[in-house]
Amino acid sequence: MLAKTPLFHRFLPELDPRLAWVALAELPTPVQRVRCVGDAQLWIKRDDKTSSEYGGNKTRKLEFSLGEALQQKRTHVVTLGALGTHHGLATSIFAKKLGLACSIILFDQPPSPHVLQNLLLMHGNGAELIYCRTLLKAVIHYFALQRLRRSSSYFLFGGGSNASGTLGYVNAAFELKQQIDEGQLPAPDQIFCAFGSGGTLAGLALGVQLAGLRSRVVGVRIAPAQWGPIPLATPRHVLSLANKAYQLLVRSGARLPDVPLEPPTVIDDFLGAGYGHPSAAGREAADILRESDGIELDETYTAKTFAAVLAAARERSQPDRVLLYWHTLNSVDLESRARQIDPLSLPRPFDRFFRHP
Ligand SMILES: Cc1ncc(COP(=O)(O)O)c(C=O)c1O
Repeated sequence: MLAKTPLFHRFLPELDPRLAWVALAELPTPVQRVRCVGDAQLWIKRDDKTSSEYGGNKTRKLEFSLGEALQQKRTHVVTLGALGTHHGLATSIFAKKLGLACSIILFDQPPSPHVLQNLLLMHGNGAELIYCRTLLKAVIHYFALQRLRRSSSYFLFGGGSNASGTLGYVNAAFELKQQIDEGQLPAPDQIFCAFGSGGTLAGLALGVQLAGLRSRVVGVRIAPAQWGPIPLATPRHVLSLANKAYQLLVRSGARLPDVPLEPPTVIDDFLGAGYGHPSAAGREAADILRESDGIELDETYTAKTFAAVLAAARERSQPDRVLLYWHTLNSVDLESRARQIDPLSLPRPFDRFFRHP
């Protein structure tokens, strides 16, 4: 069921009820014990079920960022991502639901069937798709051209991790705290999540502290830290996001404890050949979770993250630890929806992916 207000208002009563937010997610998401590992106790937070329209981590972030767009009376959202961007797809779905127009600036990635399905669905949701071959061109287009031409639009960078979006995962940490208090799971020693644009990790790291949990939040890197000389996915960037989210809550009236914000722990060992490239450890992890609990993982984000969780669970030195894997991939089946969209109705040059010689 959709909530009337974000859960964290209950824990932060001074927080301004007008804090930008719109209800999109069906919360709380369930927690579940996993059967596949021996010594450590392993749990999953099923954020694949954040919405029956499109699950995964984007829905929680968009409650706050699209809420901000609406509060600012914007009628159009501009974002960017790779051809099969989960964030772009989620934004197109929920922007449409809220009556906002949506433009997505796209750059190349290997066109797997999953990527092409997402592309088709973004088009089917009425998003304007703008093709820029490379990430560099897409970023220039986003910052320069689109902002000049469309100064009244809401700009949401790739991954949707701005200060508002990060609040989605601060709120999620309070949801976890409530589930622990209700006895649904023990307090985890460690919480693992995929680390891409950083909003999930930043929000959880901040939220866990604000909620008074002692769990250590660990990000598993699925994208390179640097893009040439430019820092991309770094612990410093996550810290800066957490700080911005903290300040946003303070500006909105919350009386917050003085928490020691530090760069989060990031595991670098599971990226493999790079962003979007499958890894052997990821494939093994995906097979294990599918066989034990019937949960599907994707090669880019969640399989690599779960591989890191399995490695931690197999460590013999601390057998009684409680580990929580935060599952951030959508599990709503969109195949039949995609089949209803004519691929040849895609604008050029996207139609070329669907034209067979
Ligand atoms: C399935 C999935 N998990 C995790 C992430 C990473 O989350 P964040 O961008 O908040 O770091 C993404 C980002 O696109 C994703 O699609």
